[in-house]
Amino acid sequence: MLLLLVITIHAAAGGDPTDGFTEVPLNPSNIVLQKPFDVPLDQRYSFIDGVHRMWVYSDDKPYSPDSDTQPRTEIRIAGLDYSSGVWQFEAYGFVPNGTSGATVAQIFGGSHGGTTTTLILRIYEPGEMRYYSYLPAVAGGLYDRWFRLNIVHDVDGGMVAVFLDGELKLHHHDRGSGQFYFKCGVYAAATDISYYMESRWRDIKIYKKY
Ligand SMILES: *[C@@H]1O[C@H](CO)[C@@H](O)[C@H](O)[C@H]1NC(C)=O
Repeated sequence: MLLLLVITIHAAAGGDPTDGFTEVPLNPSNIVLQKPFDVPLDQRYSFIDGVHRMWVYSDDKPYSPDSDTQPRTEIRIAGLDYSSGVWQFEAYGFVPNGTSGATVAQIFGGSHGGTTTTLILRIYEPGEMRYYSYLPAVAGGLYDRWFRLNIVHDVDGGMVAVFLDGELKLHHHDRGSGQFYFKCGVYAAATDISYYMESRWRDIKIYKKY
């Protein structure tokens, strides 16, 4: 509660979501790619000029032959799993017009109601971002432009907060304790998905509050 109050005041005062946080240095081993198991990585991912581009098709295979999950091409932030404290994901994202029903960022891990996620942010036509598939949308007008995304997870306070372009757009209870990590990319929802899904990400950063 206190964190969210502080965040709201910062946002209102034109502060930055990362104020009070310390950046946790990332190296290439912290960026782990997941993609349909039967295709080479370069058919679903590129990394050019600092931009991670990930795409997937609705009839692609899951990331593992043992999995019955929906298709994905995603970056999993590895080596920084957490179960307490206050953590933040920051990156600039881009979703091309037409991508719909794709989770573009998530906090994996959570324990309430058998869930495996704490936060799912999906892009739906016509370029709106939803918390899971719920309406009203968190934000609109996100197709074909770079947006800055900041996700704060206050594990101890049991809250998540989502900022777009520095503005607080969502604050919500989390979904219980767990081992958590951040992801971004494209992961197909169960229904209402476009055949082709893509998102691009650059300047991915992780922060922690000490
Ligand atoms: C997305 O593409 C559709 C079909 O070409 C077009 O009608 C629509 O205006 C586009 N939306 C944006 C935000 O560019």
